[in-house]
Amino acid sequence: MAFILGIESSCDETAAAVLKDGKQVLSNCVSSQIAQHAPFGGVVPELAAREHLRNIQPVVSQALKDASLSVADLDAVAVTNGPGLLPALVVGVNFAKALAYINHKPIIGINHFLAHIYGAFLEDNTQLLSDPATFPIAALVVSGGHTSIVIIQSDGKAEVVGSTLDDAAGEAFDKAAKLLDLGYPGGPIIEESALKGNALAFNFPRPLTGTAGKALKSKHKFDFSFSGLKTSLLYHCRKQGLIDYDANMTGNVSVCSNESSDLLYDTIASYQEAIIDVLANKFSNAIQEFNVATAVLCGGVACNNALRIRITEFVQDKLNVNLLLASPKFCTDNAAMIAGLGYHYYQASLFDDECLDAFSRLPSQNMSIPLSL
Ligand code: KG4
Ligand code: ZN
Repeated sequence: MAFILGIESSCDETAAAVLKDGKQVLSNCVSSQIAQHAPFGGVVPELAAREHLRNIQPVVSQALKDASLSVADLDAVAVTNGPGLLPALVVGVNFAKALAYINHKPIIGINHFLAHIYGAFLEDNTQLLSDPATFPIAALVVSGGHTSIVIIQSDGKAEVVGSTLDDAAGEAFDKAAKLLDLGYPGGPIIEESALKGNALAFNFPRPLTGTAGKALKSKHKFDFSFSGLKTSLLYHCRKQGLIDYDANMTGNVSVCSNESSDLLYDTIASYQEAIIDVLANKFSNAIQEFNVATAVLCGGVACNNALRIRITEFVQDKLNVNLLLASPKFCTDNAAMIAGLGYHYYQASLFDDECLDAFSRLPSQNMSIPLSL
């Protein structure tokens, strides 16, 4: 029996959780900074770091209290040490190192990106990781910072076979909401507005799918690109009079309120449709190419119900591949996924030390998950 405390501070959520044996979530506390970043339409790294400093101690205390444990009961402290916003990561890493050092507990640095994948296995699906029939796994990690397809083999080796060349899918949602002055974070707002519109009203581009009369280079077969789509939304909104002609993706915009809400909702629904189409198509192609046994959808954008439905149709219904949709509470940033993955490092006695550092970028090679359970 092992109790692992997880700590997460890579972006705008200060989170702590305690897990028993990598699967039983005894506590899962998340303090969101949405209100602080909303006026800026995106996360301001220095502001995030200050908020983490303010929140980290109370959030960790709450997680221990909810789990009815004290620090002495813990077997290890796992902390996100990258990728993410460096000023934000440093707060969690230093807090975790101090806590572990003072209390003579092992410290484990966790890759946030891989932890998102583990989020789909939390609670009910953890035993799948010890079953060879689960592999290979293809995971579509879609968040504010990442849009990647990862293939994981039964030895835990994780290879990123496709990634975004520019913006992540979450950014495509957030920036669209910012352009239309709808609020932050954009994902849930765009999803809700899209329900009121016709997704087939406008034909937005599907970048890097080879559908715009341009052949797709094979090296980009599983890559994504959302910045062109975002620009296309900008031009569309100007043309349709939804925003002032001067409006751009970075400056202040003035949304023209006299335009019909049908036009706005049709635009949003069609834009979301383009994102979902690209994600579902590329993911399905990768699943077939790598002959995978299990598909995983995870990361903040995986909360999107329209995306979940489409991926289920494509992957489970058409390809007949076992599909794990991360539970929405483990899609957006949380520390349960950090503690859960940390448990596997604990089992394998793979510990870090007081030199544990934070890194902003994902290592491009040699990622792996110790899968011994
Ligand atoms: O995983 P996450 O919490 O943080 C990162 O690691 O980036 O993901 C946050 C992203 C934001 O871009 C947010 O707009 C998006 O997830 N998101 C959604 C939805 N809920 C959150 N995107 C689309 N539809 C949603 N319902
Ligand atoms: Zn994340």
